[in-house]
Order: sequence, then C-alpha cells, then structure tokens
Amino acid sequence: MSPVTLSRFLIEEQRKKNVIGSDLRLLIEVVARACKSIASAIGKGGLTGVLGSAGSDNIQGEAQKKLDVISNEILLEANEWGGHLAAMASEEMEHPHPIPNRYPKGEFLLLFDPLDGSSNIDVNVSVGTIFSVLRCPDGMEPGEQAFLQPGTRQVCAGYAVYGPTTLLVLTLGDGVNIFTLDRELGSFVLTQENVRIPEDTREFAINASNARHWEAPVKRYIDELLAGKDGPRGHDFNMRWVASMVADVHRIISRGGIFLYPLDSKTAAKGGKLRLMYEANPMAFIIEQAGGRATDGRGRILDIVPAGLHQRVPVILGSRNEVERATAYHIA
Ligand code: AHG
Ligand code: MN
Ligand code: MN
Repeated sequence: MSPVTLSRFLIEEQRKKNVIGSDLRLLIEVVARACKSIASAIGKGGLTGVLGSAGSDNIQGEAQKKLDVISNEILLEANEWGGHLAAMASEEMEHPHPIPNRYPKGEFLLLFDPLDGSSNIDVNVSVGTIFSVLRCPDGMEPGEQAFLQPGTRQVCAGYAVYGPTTLLVLTLGDGVNIFTLDRELGSFVLTQENVRIPEDTREFAINASNARHWEAPVKRYIDELLAGKDGPRGHDFNMRWVASMVADVHRIISRGGIFLYPLDSKTAAKGGKLRLMYEANPMAFIIEQAGGRATDGRGRILDIVPAGLHQRVPVILGSRNEVERATAYHIA
C-alpha cells in the first residue's frame, strides 16, 4: 500500500470518523509545515549561525536562544493568515498574539512551546515543538481569559521531535498516531498507528540533582526505585534524563517509563517547573490517549482549571501503574 501522508490521514479522519472539520485539518497541516521549517532551521546549526543565545529573556525569566525566537516566529507567521485561528499563545510571549485585522479569524486557539529542550540545542541533542488546540468559547474575545480552559477541553495536541529522525506525534482525542518526516518527499508519513504505552515499566526519568529539594513522597518513591532488587520493589530500575521533555516523553511513548518533574523547594514558589498550558496539558492529553496517566501528584493534570497563561505545575506522567503508585504516595 502507498504511504499514508499526514494530509491523507487527516482527510480520512474527517471523512470516516468525522472527528475533525476542515478548519482543524488546515490548522494541523499548517503547524506540521511550520515544524518542517523549524526542523530545517535546526538542521543547519552552525552553518547558518542559528545556535547560541539571543541575548534576551522571555516572560518566564529564562534566557532565550536564537532558535527559541526563530521557532516562535515561524509558528506565528505560518498560522496568521489561514483564517483558522482566533489567537495564539506561546511560552515565549507575555500576552496572546491576536490575528492581524487584515486576515479572517477562525474558532480555534493555538498554544505552543516553540522549542522545547532549548538547553540541548547547542550540544546537538534532540529538541522539539509542543502544541495544543482549544476552541475559543462562544461570544468571548480571544484574550487571555479565553485560553484559561482545563486540558480536558483540548481538541488536539501534538509534538514534533527533532532527533535522528523528525517525528510528529498527534492526538485528535481518538488515540495517538506517529508520523515520520520523509525529507526527500517533504511529507510526514504515518509510521505508527494507535500507540499504546505499557502499563508497567522499569525505567524512570527525573533530574536527580534536585533530590535534596524534593518533597517526602517523591523522595520515598525514588529511594524505592534506587534500592532495586534489594528494596521493597524487588527488582532493579534503569534511569534516563535527556532534559528535553519531548525526548523524555517520546521515549515513554515508545517503550514505557515514568517521567517526574515534581514540586520541589526550588520551584515551589512558582508552582513547579513545567508550564501547564504549553507542556503539561498537551503531553498529558497525548499520554492519556496512549493509555498512560498524568498527574500533578495530587490529581489529574487535565482537570486543572488554569489561573494564568504561564502557570507552572508539577508533572508525573507515563506508564499507568507507576504514575498511580507515585501519586498514591502523595495522597497517603
Ligand atoms: P524549555 O526548553 O521549553 O524551556 O523547556 C525545558 C524543560 C523541559 O523540556 C525539560 O523537561 C526540563 O525543562 C529540564 O529541566 P532541567 O534543566 O531542570 O532538568
Ligand atoms: Mn519546554
Ligand atoms: Mn521552550
């Protein structure tokens, strides 16, 4: 059978299952095209001088890399003129970006982390783009308030991983599918359908340099994993930490695992490290759609009612049984 491109996949989803309409189809195609441009910019690296710092800070108070700014611009420019969006919001911008008056407006709100894992960009380690789509509530101006909807309202979420291959991982709320960029064809091609995360795992991901700042339930959970076959779990666990959420989540999508960026005394004042709207919600939606779980240690991430566009939250996600155990330690 001939390869199923992203375009064909989306048309068939619309025709057979009616899970998406033309506007959402266009939106996903445009985001995918922007991800191809970002992949191309990243791929050129030192040849075009795109590595290194931009010399500015973003709204999160973090130093921006040149590729943070370039990726943000690529996504804004690609999505302004299609008529499918009411507004966009980005990790890199303080306020929502309105659609310029010269273009028609649509019903969707697009949120993105244009370049995730940017501390890895200068060392040639995988980075990515994360995005989430909401509907602008009827009769509401597409300002900040319109975006403050719980993750359960997402109509679509996805991420691109710029690694040895460029992948697009997508959910429309009907399972998770993976597309691989064929660089010669210039198309994303469906390479894995209806991905499922194993319920059990012996692999965990956490930045252990924060151990002394963790809360007691996280210390207990990780100590038990580290004790391996001599401890209460009775077998050894392996550890991985890329420090690009997309890469760590993609490993979990591929072979299971648990990822934790828990609350710790360093980030407690901000609510956590990872951003609810640009990182936690889209990843939680994808993980749940693949049969995994995603909590903030207390409850389901997708149920959190956001208080602000740039809100941060603790994140525990991945293989169902491990996430449930780590969450239970918090509630006990
Ligand atoms: P970003 O590059 O978009 O700011 O995100 C970085 C995030 C996330 O990708 C990763 O899981 C985490 O920060 C890594 O944090 P540490 O450097 O504290 O390990
Ligand atoms: Mn990020
Ligand atoms: Mn980022």
